[in-house]
Amino acid sequence: MTTTTSRGGVAIDCGHLVRDDRVHTSLYKDPAIFDQELDRIFRNTWVWVAHESDVPKANTFKTSWVGNQPVIVTRDKTDTIHVLLNRCRHRAASVCEKKKGKSSVFVCPYHGWSYGVDGALRKVPHASGYQSEPEKAELSLVSLRVETYNGMIFATFKDDIEPLVDFLGPAKKWIDLFMKQGAGFGVKTLGEHKFRFPGNWKIQLENTTDAYHFPIVHKTFLDSLDAETENIFDVLGHGGWVENLGNGHSVMVMIPDLIDLEDNLDAPIPDRFADLAAELVAEGHDDATVRKVVRAVGGTGFNLNLFPNVACSMAFFRVLRPVAVDETEITHVAIGMDEGPVAGNRMRLRLHEHFQGPMGFGTPDDAEGWERVQRGAAAGDDLWIMVNRGVDAPEGAAEAGHDAGDVSAETGMRAAYQQWKRMMTA
Ligand code: FES
Ligand SMILES: [Fe+2]
Repeated sequence: MTTTTSRGGVAIDCGHLVRDDRVHTSLYKDPAIFDQELDRIFRNTWVWVAHESDVPKANTFKTSWVGNQPVIVTRDKTDTIHVLLNRCRHRAASVCEKKKGKSSVFVCPYHGWSYGVDGALRKVPHASGYQSEPEKAELSLVSLRVETYNGMIFATFKDDIEPLVDFLGPAKKWIDLFMKQGAGFGVKTLGEHKFRFPGNWKIQLENTTDAYHFPIVHKTFLDSLDAETENIFDVLGHGGWVENLGNGHSVMVMIPDLIDLEDNLDAPIPDRFADLAAELVAEGHDDATVRKVVRAVGGTGFNLNLFPNVACSMAFFRVLRPVAVDETEITHVAIGMDEGPVAGNRMRLRLHEHFQGPMGFGTPDDAEGWERVQRGAAAGDDLWIMVNRGVDAPEGAAEAGHDAGDVSAETGMRAAYQQWKRMMTA
């Protein structure tokens, strides 16, 4: 049977390309599949666009993406958050090119149409030059449906899909745990860096809950740590697990001791954080705050993958944007404590830089792995990508009734590909 995409193209039948334990290589390479993903996945579900701290006050904004469509995330005077297509209603120029900022109006640079932060068309220069003046109410910037959960802002083009909280489901518990990194303060974004790699977006999606690669790819990172920290990051065989949270979401718990950052606050302060603790005391913080901040500063011991485009990973958000079938943009957003101790937030950034970024010990090695997957996928068109790894999760670790495997299991990838299949064949 031939079906059509929502934009009228002929849909590809993708169901047979995803099996329980493997996916077809064409998922990384076929431009027609990529177009269908933009249509059926990125225009059909909740997509992460920003953290609330990116738009902290009225009239602040941040530019972002929903799939391949540029958007502006804004906050108005009533504290309502809007996600607006970044496309002038006159002749389509983008109305904002800044990453972030504060403005009560977006003036299109081409012919000067101006819009409010809620997207309403305010002014059209020389409007009398039209035979009938433009109907302003019909020419607002296109506004997407927006919902937030614990500071995370998501948008969708669809009015008829489930509320965000239902889409997140069991992932909500892990978002709540992740946000304990605020250590009693709020969570805020501290800064970000962006890069692209020449490979398909799903190669990165898979990576977030792939602990199997960690000791191999990140050997250089592990070698750069002191013995105590190296032991903590030696994630295989320490009781971790990977759990399918439904709707394509999954969590990989690497360091079970660091699931709940409010537990074990009485434990001795690790040597590597002794200087930080001393600095926090010197900043005038009480013992309880010092302990909370020290425990939270290294991030959580798990990676949460939210289908399709964002991960909450240790102490940062990792956001992916599909650019082309063989090109993906990644943004790593460091997070810290809103109005939290200076020394704590500084330490956060130093730890972030140690792993992430062009000079980090981790990300460049990951990116090399992802590029190689795409290069290798050029060979053997008829071969399949294996995602069958995993033995049982440790007893009692995962939520009863959830599909789960040991920490090196490919459970998270299988969860994501089953959601991919559901959406691509719906
Ligand atoms: S394209 Fe924006 S005013 Fe003409
Ligand atoms: Fe990695």
